[in-house]
Amino acid sequence: MRKLLVTGGAGFIGGNFVHYWCRHYPGDRIVVLDALTYAGNVATLEPMLSHKAIAFVQGDINDRALVERLLHEHDIDTVVHFAAESHVDRSIVDPDAFVRTNVLGTQALLSACRTAWYHEGKWREGTRFHHVSTDEVYGSLAPDEPAFSETTPYAPSSPYAASKAGADHLVRAFVHTYGMPATISNCSNNYGPFHFPEKLIPLTIVNALHGKPLPIYGDGLQVRDWLYVEDHCVAIDRIISTGQPGTTFNVGGRAEHVNIDIVRRLCRELDHQFAGSSALAARFPDCPAAKGAACESLITYVKDRAGHDRRYAIDPSRIAGTLGFEPAETLATGLARTVDWYLSNEPWWRAVMDGSYREWVQKQYSER
Ligand code: NAD
Ligand code: DAU
Repeated sequence: MRKLLVTGGAGFIGGNFVHYWCRHYPGDRIVVLDALTYAGNVATLEPMLSHKAIAFVQGDINDRALVERLLHEHDIDTVVHFAAESHVDRSIVDPDAFVRTNVLGTQALLSACRTAWYHEGKWREGTRFHHVSTDEVYGSLAPDEPAFSETTPYAPSSPYAASKAGADHLVRAFVHTYGMPATISNCSNNYGPFHFPEKLIPLTIVNALHGKPLPIYGDGLQVRDWLYVEDHCVAIDRIISTGQPGTTFNVGGRAEHVNIDIVRRLCRELDHQFAGSSALAARFPDCPAAKGAACESLITYVKDRAGHDRRYAIDPSRIAGTLGFEPAETLATGLARTVDWYLSNEPWWRAVMDGSYREWVQKQYSER
């Protein structure tokens, strides 16, 4: 039985990971540590919280005393570190929070684990620190350049990417200097349930449902590699369970697409779902599809993101070859599942957008 501390478990990927882990390893114990920034939502964890299948602690990863106490009290042997400021556009406006959480927060976690797990020159048997990172640390690729491998030199462009690169270097330094049993995954763009509607895919779905413009930065020909979030969870599971400590794994979806193509596919999926559905038309009367028009009519080209990376691509041969990982979902099936999820979970994204779930949190956790 593993005892996991999942940081950022009320966010998009962390939340999906907690769902995944509870489904696959119901005998394990999970403590979620999350500061509940604008991006965290405990409603994502609601079923597991009500059934007391997990413990939730609202707190900051920079609070070393708190982290050390949790590691000790819950006898944690595995830390899966998702907590981060994750949105590139926000990092361009205000980089400070990114350095605080992504760099200093990761350092605080690493040090807390060293205090808890490293005694008399030895790491406690069976411990593991897994750091969830991004392909953005490698910078931007030209159209004909080979995909990022684990040995591609770091060249981060945005403050977000630079802060994640800093965190990766700290994890590597703990492996190199102290022999810490840590692994890193550098993953491409995720999409799926519980995704905050500021990122391209959920923003496109939610805006289209409200008949609002679908903003395309620059010419819309930037390339991203898309991975359904549950596949990312499977990859992390493989790495924690069988990946060699000290190793980095690049994780991707083998699905490179230009942004405009992603938005057009989402529009067509929505048009398809609305066709002949008077119920959807009644719920979302401002969506063009409710009136038989195409959602694509909402596409609006806007000013480009500053320093916008042109192309990311992942060479997944290491994780495919050594851990046998391949994504199960294709882009077509993944996008259809995602649109379905947003149509079936309107209360979740409405609460996230207006912040009303915070009242619930206040009641549950104010005494902690
Ligand atoms: P997210 O923004 O949806 O969630 C981040 C979570 O971390 C939130 O619940 C937030 O409340 C919490 N958090 C923020 N600061 C904290 C702090 N100081 N202490 C404790 N908790 C804090 O992010 P996400 O998209 O789920 O990304 C999770 C991780 O995966 C990040 O490390 C990100 O860099 C990485 N990643 C994301 C993607 C992607 O496509 N979303 C791809 C590759 C890697
Ligand atoms: O590559 C992994 C990264 O993917 C993660 O590390 C980040 O945490 C995650 O946010 C994501 O970063 P991106 O910047 O690629 O994701 P975003 O959804 O913000 O944008 C995807 C692409 O779409 C990007 O080229 C910018 C563009 N875009 C984005 C938004 C929000 C638009 O054209 N219009 C938009 O409104």
